[in-house]
Amino acid sequence: MKNTVLTFKQAKENGTKLTMLTAYDYSTAKLIDEAGVNSILVGDSLGNVMLGYEDTVSVTMEDMIHHGAAVARGAKNALVVIDMPFMSYQTSVYDAIVNAGRLMKEGRANAVKLEGGVEVTEQIKAITAAGIPVVAHIGLTPQSINAFGGHKVQGKTEKAAQKILDDARAVEQAGAFAVVLEGIPAKLASLITKELLIPTIGIGASADCDGQVLVYQDMLGMYSDFTPKFVKKFANIGEVMTAAFRQYIEEVNSGAFPSEENCYAISDEIIEKLK
Ligand code: KIV
Repeated sequence: MKNTVLTFKQAKENGTKLTMLTAYDYSTAKLIDEAGVNSILVGDSLGNVMLGYEDTVSVTMEDMIHHGAAVARGAKNALVVIDMPFMSYQTSVYDAIVNAGRLMKEGRANAVKLEGGVEVTEQIKAITAAGIPVVAHIGLTPQSINAFGGHKVQGKTEKAAQKILDDARAVEQAGAFAVVLEGIPAKLASLITKELLIPTIGIGASADCDGQVLVYQDMLGMYSDFTPKFVKKFANIGEVMTAAFRQYIEEVNSGAFPSEENCYAISDEIIEKLK
C-alpha cells in the first residue's frame, strides 16, 4: 500500500516506527521500495555521494528534479520526499513555492524537505498552504556547514539546545508533517519527540525518535570519503562491488568472459555464404 502523510500521522499516534532511506536513481529506489521502507528521500546528499562534491551547497534544482523523477518512477509504495537545494527557498517565500512546485510537478515528489527552523516558517506555511506536504530538517543541517564551521553535533549548550527545541515547535506550528532531527544529543531528541505531535525522523539523534533515516551508500558501505559516528554499516557492498569489478577485469583479460552462454548463435551455413 502507498505510504502517505496519513501513514506518518498514524505511526506517531500508534507508536510504530517509520523508516526512511535515501535513493537517487530508479534501480536503487525500486530495491528499497520492494524492501518495504515507508519513505524514500531524494536527499541533496546526492551532491556528496553521487556527484562527488565535498558538501551539498552546489546542488541545483535541475539535479534534484533529474534524480527525483528517476526515484519516483521506481518507488511504488514509498512516500517520495525530495530535498529543496541550497538557495531554492531561503531567498524568498515566492522562490520557495515556485521551487517546491517544480519538485512536485517535474520531480513527481509526494513531499518536499527543507532545512531550518524559526527562520523558514514563512516558507513552510506558504508551501503547505499551496497543498504541498513539507518535511522540516533541523539540528545539524548540512546546507549550513559553512556557518557551523564543519560537521559538528548541534544543541550541546543550553542556548543551542533551546534554539533547536524552539525550531521544532516552530516547524510543527508552521505546518510541517514530519521533522528530521540530525546530529543532536539523544536526550534533546527524546524531549522533542515526546513534545511534538508530528513524527521525528532521526539521523544521529537516537532510537527515541519516531523513525530513522540513513544515506543508503553509508549503510551499505559504499561511500568511504566520510563516515559519521551515527552510521551503521548494515552490509559491505562496496567491498563486494570492488571484488566483482576486479573479477570482471581478470576474466576479460584472460578471455574467460564472455563465454559461449553469453553469446548469440548463428548457423555455420550462413557464415560460410558470406562474401
Ligand atoms: O540529504 C540527505 O540525505 C538528508 C538526510 C541526511 C536526512 O538530508
